[in-house]
Amino acid sequence: MKMRLLVLFCVAILGLKPVLAEEGMLIPSLIAAFENDMKAKGMKLSAADIYSVNNTSIKDAIFQFGGGCTAELVSDKGLLLTNHHCGYGQIQAHSSLEHDYLKNGFWAKNLAEELPNPGLTAMRIVRIEDVTAAVLAGTSSKDDRAVIAANIKKIVAAAIAGTHYGAEIKPFNYGNDYYLMVNETFTDIRFVGTPPNSIGKFGGDTDNWVWPRHTGDFSVFRIYAGKDNKPAEFSNENQPYKPLHYLPISFQDRKEGDFTMVYGFPGLTEQHVVSEYLKFIIEKERPTRIEMRNHSLAAIDEGMKSSDLTRIQYSAKQARIANAWKKWIGQVEGLENLNAYELKLNYEKRYKAMAASKPEWSKYAAALEKLNSLMLQGTQTEYNYAVGVEYFSVGPEYFKLVRGLDDLLANYPKYMANNQLKDVLAKLQTTADGFFKNYNTNVDRRIFLELTNLYLNYSQQSLKGTTVEQLTEEIYSQSIFTNEERFKSFLSSFSAKSVKKLQKDAGFVHFNQFFNPFRNEIVPAFRDFQTEVNKWMQIYVEGKYTMFPDDKHWPDANSTLRITYGQLEGSAPTDGMRYTEHTTLDGIVAKYNTGNPDFELLPRMLDLHTAKNYGQYAQGDELWVCFTGSNHTTGGNSGSPVLDKNGYLMGLNFDRSWESTMSDYLFDPNRCRNIVVDIRYVLWVMDIYSGAKHLVDEMTLMKE
Ligand code: ARG
Ligand code: GLU
Repeated sequence: MKMRLLVLFCVAILGLKPVLAEEGMLIPSLIAAFENDMKAKGMKLSAADIYSVNNTSIKDAIFQFGGGCTAELVSDKGLLLTNHHCGYGQIQAHSSLEHDYLKNGFWAKNLAEELPNPGLTAMRIVRIEDVTAAVLAGTSSKDDRAVIAANIKKIVAAAIAGTHYGAEIKPFNYGNDYYLMVNETFTDIRFVGTPPNSIGKFGGDTDNWVWPRHTGDFSVFRIYAGKDNKPAEFSNENQPYKPLHYLPISFQDRKEGDFTMVYGFPGLTEQHVVSEYLKFIIEKERPTRIEMRNHSLAAIDEGMKSSDLTRIQYSAKQARIANAWKKWIGQVEGLENLNAYELKLNYEKRYKAMAASKPEWSKYAAALEKLNSLMLQGTQTEYNYAVGVEYFSVGPEYFKLVRGLDDLLANYPKYMANNQLKDVLAKLQTTADGFFKNYNTNVDRRIFLELTNLYLNYSQQSLKGTTVEQLTEEIYSQSIFTNEERFKSFLSSFSAKSVKKLQKDAGFVHFNQFFNPFRNEIVPAFRDFQTEVNKWMQIYVEGKYTMFPDDKHWPDANSTLRITYGQLEGSAPTDGMRYTEHTTLDGIVAKYNTGNPDFELLPRMLDLHTAKNYGQYAQGDELWVCFTGSNHTTGGNSGSPVLDKNGYLMGLNFDRSWESTMSDYLFDPNRCRNIVVDIRYVLWVMDIYSGAKHLVDEMTLMKE
């Protein structure tokens, strides 16, 4: 009763909402400013436990995985956890019809069975430093790009001199701030284990971006280092990496309201976009891209249903295309439901009114005005660019093979003169082998036919002297790029004459006719537009900080290390609907019983469920599978550790609920929830489901 009165008092008098969800992705080196608030919400750690330069801290257990996801160390032998969908490319690459790790899972029984992954990296942050003053030193304005670039080069070089570290400096808040990030990148990362798709991808596209959720979205890797424990290229001599810090496992009961913190590498948020741009996204850009992907996905799905080989070939590609596609559908719906455009207009009114109150603030109103007027024409440039990206990078796949020849075509006289041609051709052959391993010409043909029609329509172009149907027939029955044998024989007999032959190849000619104007006109126009927008965004965002110092400010995600905190919490996303905060193994079986193939299980799961064989991993008589938290996350946070009040690992972040997919533009604390796979389910799958208890034994389970 008392609590209720207090809450009502807050709501009535202070206008505060009784919610604890925190908007914002915080820079770890500045976390001390939030220590008190985090402690008030239940955290037992100090700021220095979370981030420290001089001592080891939780930061040292957090890695950027493969450039796009997050992963964390859980043992003193370099054992690394990330999501199943983050390791999917590797899992798929190691899979074949004989070793179908997608279908059956994989568990290395010992170190010797762990599989190398050329090209895969894991990167940790050594330190973060605010270098704004040094980057802007000697500039005439925050837009003085030549001086800024020269300063950045100098500071980076000084930061890593005499070390094996790397470093980068990134702009924050559209170039109002700059931070230096010194990093250490490991390059021998081995594949240790994965559950089958029926666990790691349980729910498939049906459940993607949706709560309630039951996906065991995890996979296991290990970092190896040289004898000196420093990064080294793959070698049999390498040893498991001995970390500075690894995460103990939170093995206690949980309940709604528990403190949670997410530590990882969120990719991109766009909280500051102006109203006209948001309107463009909602009404034009997203719907077009969604429609283009409707077609490629239909072609891929048809192929995957028709044969096991095609299913394996296209599984990773399908997941990648479908993931953004479904998020965009949710985004548009959410932004429309929340009247995001009107909210922006209201905010812009408030912004302009404030700017009118002091003469020196008039530049802020002018920047906002300029941005909205720039959008009126500029979004057409951005539209052309987006349509081109969908066609050239996500569309017909043979385009990739054409682009792979760029270097050869530009440099073959030199390669011939230097006797390097053989090596170059051998490399191209290896790339082509990888390409054709996962290529089905009928699937690609249908994608080409449908997307070329859409591309012509959206970019207001037409074909001369042929139809899309005729062109498709010609390319897919004759071009060297759509058939493995034809491409092989082209490479093996390559000579100066081959270049002439290429000019007659329909696939080559079509690609270049369309791609050249895109590369030479549309891409540069888009870059210029972005540069111009960023220049005004810098002033507009500076105005937000200057004129509204009491608003909560945080820099948009930019793939740098961030912290966000909240609590284990359900939600009421729409009127009359409540989501509880966790799901259990019973729910997996209930979904299986619907008969939807996305909920297929292997018999072992049903047996273990019937026997209620939950081992030490149950809470009461339930096995928790997933839970939601009120933590502000985005793409790139996949695989991020969700930590409890002591900094112990509660689970792996892997998604957001349907109603939160718009949070990259607009965070709503009432509905935005991140989705987490409970670490106790992860360990149950390793130990009891898969018989890989030796991995659980490497970890430190904290029972209190
Ligand atoms: N939506 C999550 C993220 O953006 C998970 C994607 C993987 N799962 C899937 N069914 N495709 O990446
Ligand atoms: N699944 C996303 C990823 O790959 C994280 C979910 C999100 O976008 O919030 O990073």
